[in-house]
Amino acid sequence: MAERVAVGPHEPVHVVGEMVATRRAGAYRHLTLTAPGVPERFRAGTFVAVSVPGHTARRALWVHRVRASSAYGPTLDVVVEPTGPGTTWLASQPVGTPVTLTGPLGRPFALPKDPVACLLVGDGYAAAPMFPLAERLRERGCAVALVVSAPDESRLLSALEARRSARSVTVLTADGSVGRRGTAADHADELVARDVDVVYAAGPAPVLRAVAAAAERHGAWSQVAVEVPTPCGTGLCHGCPLPVVGEDSVDRVVRACTEGPVVRGDRVRWDVL
Ligand code: FES
Repeated sequence: MAERVAVGPHEPVHVVGEMVATRRAGAYRHLTLTAPGVPERFRAGTFVAVSVPGHTARRALWVHRVRASSAYGPTLDVVVEPTGPGTTWLASQPVGTPVTLTGPLGRPFALPKDPVACLLVGDGYAAAPMFPLAERLRERGCAVALVVSAPDESRLLSALEARRSARSVTVLTADGSVGRRGTAADHADELVARDVDVVYAAGPAPVLRAVAAAAERHGAWSQVAVEVPTPCGTGLCHGCPLPVVGEDSVDRVVRACTEGPVVRGDRVRWDVL
């Protein structure tokens, strides 16, 4: 007899959804998916793990946006950069493709209780969770400054949309093709120095490391979404080691998919990541 398991309001669910829209945006593909129960449970910073036919490991994808209702019901948007066989397969599928996924997974960004000044730094496709995070922070009365950075213009995520999501927006490209030239790491001190209370960041480790260090120098809290390969995404395989320093100052390794992906920036052992 089938056993019915009660699932909490934020616990992940494993579902088969459908790709209901797909569009190219520079080097990325934005996919809109139905995934019954996932949009309702989503919190900024959590991710989904998508199954790819023929591959055991699943692909972890940042959630860029959720819609509570649409012609298809609740949907979520994910951003894919087609770099390997799994992401290339996903990015090439047409509307109507069934998509098996588990989510939302991981710990989300913690939101401040008070309306503080927040700096959000998102690099490349990892900027995706910064947009729903900016919305939540604005609802709480926080002043949101958003930095969207990328190696070049084609990898800059939703720069136009960023201007609707934040009080101020800084666009950076490493090659100077749009916005200011340089990486978020290059400009970290200058960005954090602007009376920021909390810094949120998602992107490659060097960017996170620089931003977290700048936050520490300027007396701000930082939370970083660390991208580590997550073969299962559910805490079972232990294949996503994230070295941290615990509250007790003891070095330990946690699972990025369950104890992360969001952790305090000053807790990550960047030297061994
Ligand atoms: S990806 Fe399997 S435990 Fe984290």
